[in-house]
Amino acid sequence: MGEVVVRGYAGDDRDAVRRICWETGYMGDPVAWQWADRESFADLFTGWYTDHEPGSARVAELDGRVVGYLLGCRDSRRVRSPGATVARHLVARGLLVRPGTAPVLWRSLGDVARGAVRGEGLPAAFVDDRWPAHLHIDLLPEARSQGVGEALVAGWLNDLAVDDVAGCHLETWAENDGAIAFFRHMGFAPRGRPTPMPGLRSPEGHRHHSQLMVRSLRDGPAPPGGAPPGRRARPPTESDDPGP
Ligand SMILES: CC(C)(COP(=O)(O)OP(=O)(O)OC[C@H]1O[C@@H](n2cnc3c(N)ncnc32)[C@H](O)[C@@H]1OP(=O)(O)O)[C@@H](O)C(=O)NCCC(=O)NCCS
Repeated sequence: MGEVVVRGYAGDDRDAVRRICWETGYMGDPVAWQWADRESFADLFTGWYTDHEPGSARVAELDGRVVGYLLGCRDSRRVRSPGATVARHLVARGLLVRPGTAPVLWRSLGDVARGAVRGEGLPAAFVDDRWPAHLHIDLLPEARSQGVGEALVAGWLNDLAVDDVAGCHLETWAENDGAIAFFRHMGFAPRGRPTPMPGLRSPEGHRHHSQLMVRSLRDGPAPPGGAPPGRRARPPTESDDPGP
């Protein structure tokens, strides 16, 4: 197997990014068993980033094939509301009546209604000027555990720090222990309690939760590999470009 190389996103990568999002959507595993509509799923988690802020996206390539991505946003206030994307697909793709999507959606309505009875608010987008940027990252299995994630995130954090962005946040599944450990390794810390995600269930029927994590870029230690970040995943070679 060749070396994984990290590079900037190009328009031709769009389909690969959407495919990877779909194939890793359930905490790194395929999400089709839970949500059987690739177009709406990929659009929800990647569409805004590839189409409105492609300069903040980067991909990992193995033997000429895209095997992972990081999608970033420097100012989270700019992102289109996920509700608007969902609403568009509800109508255009008939998601409320499709067998592969309807159960999650109707269960979501039930979860939200029960939450409202208990006085819980609706899940809301996180906006805080201390951590204005955010990211999404996903790698196919063959690209994992080789330092690729570290190279992608360190490069992103370095770019933000160079541009004097105050900090970065992300949301991951609270049940995704590997991702939480990885983001901790990259200097992110959990903020607030895990919040239940409407509609989603484990194969055993347990609810899933979202965990907010934040990392300041104006104080504290630099993340591993982040000062300055490498552009290549491990193992490093003599030709490594240390990046800007
Ligand atoms: C999470 C993910 C981005 C991490 O990227 P990666 O390239 O596999 O991680 P790296 O090899 O760069 O790991 C860097 C460090 O993070 C920590 N880490 C990474 N994965 C870990 C895991 N599964 N469990 C515990 N620690 C982990 C380790 O400290 C590791 O350092 P080490 O290799 O010296 O032990 C990647 O595995 C992935 O895409 N997973 C599936 C999808 C996913 O969960 N995405 C996140 C959704 S928010």
